[in-house]
Amino acid sequence: MAAYQILVLHGPNLNMLGQREPELYGSRTLAEIDQLLEKRASEIGAQIEVFQSNSEGALIDKIQDCYTRVDGILINPGALTHYGYSLRDALSAAGLPLVEVHLSNIFARETFRHHSVISPLAAGMLCGFGADGYLLGLEALLNKIKMQRG
Ligand code: DQA
Repeated sequence: MAAYQILVLHGPNLNMLGQREPELYGSRTLAEIDQLLEKRASEIGAQIEVFQSNSEGALIDKIQDCYTRVDGILINPGALTHYGYSLRDALSAAGLPLVEVHLSNIFARETFRHHSVISPLAAGMLCGFGADGYLLGLEALLNKIKMQRG
């Protein structure tokens, strides 16, 4: 078993990546992004568990199911970023190191996307770097976990 266990969560509509507005979100599918993450994770001594759902409740169930056995969470909450208070509460209760990722630059888009209810809980947030953001986010999360452990 790898030294660090990371839960990767993808929110609503991210299962459609590849087909969904590629000019905004790129042409990679979610399966391709997950493969890249798995490869990077194994290179840096981590193991990822990946979960996508279009339902806020299912994401919350997954967090409640996993939080005692993972070391950190990497999340792209999709549109729940902007209004998902129950998801936010579940992440807060889990109390784990958290990194938020968005494929697009949410600040260069509609005003409703400029606010994240998740960011105040996160160690940091990456947006606008497409799939690279996930890989950078994974590395940053791992560094954060290592730093916290001292
Ligand atoms: C997103 C940005 C959100 O505003 C949007 O609702 C998404 C994807 C991103 O990755 O850029 O579903 O999280």
